[in-house]
Amino acid sequence: MAPALSGSMLVLTEQDIVMSRQLVRKLTQELKFSLVDQTKMITAASELSRNAVVYGGGGEMRWEIVNQGGRTGLRLAFEDKGPGIADVDLALRDGWTSGKGLGMGLSGSKRLVNDFEIKTVLGEGTCVTITRWK
Ligand SMILES: Nc1ncnc2c1ncn2[C@@H]1O[C@H](COP(=O)(O)OP(=O)(O)OP(=O)(O)O)[C@@H](O)[C@H]1O
Ligand SMILES: [Mg+2]
Repeated sequence: MAPALSGSMLVLTEQDIVMSRQLVRKLTQELKFSLVDQTKMITAASELSRNAVVYGGGGEMRWEIVNQGGRTGLRLAFEDKGPGIADVDLALRDGWTSGKGLGMGLSGSKRLVNDFEIKTVLGEGTCVTITRWK
């Protein structure tokens, strides 16, 4: 049977954050990403899963293996139905946190991937999509 090219999992708890890391590790290994690129994608996924849990009240991680122009990549989307982000530019600033974090999750994740997109609506939720190409 051919492996699935997309899927999703709920990210509601601390344990789910661990599971999301494990899933991204498995996917990047299957795609034969370099060890460095595996670690980059796992780290970004961990940060975005944590934000979905801490700020979004839980959410879901969708994954998709994408092919474009002869390249293969892994795309991950972290979606929650939380309060949304009022000022995305501010949220993306190194060291800015509304809580007790280091304020490095979003900005760090952005640097670790090739494509990074935030869609957020106040009172409706947030979706962060990242892609790393092989
Ligand atoms: N899914 C989300 N929903 C609502 N607000 C969010 C979400 N993700 C991030 N934010 C807001 O953006 C800010 C910056 O997020 P970021 O992940 O960079 O830092 P942090 O979570 O505060 O700290 P760190 O991730 O370094 O522990 C957060 O403090 C929070 O206010
Ligand atoms: Mg964070």
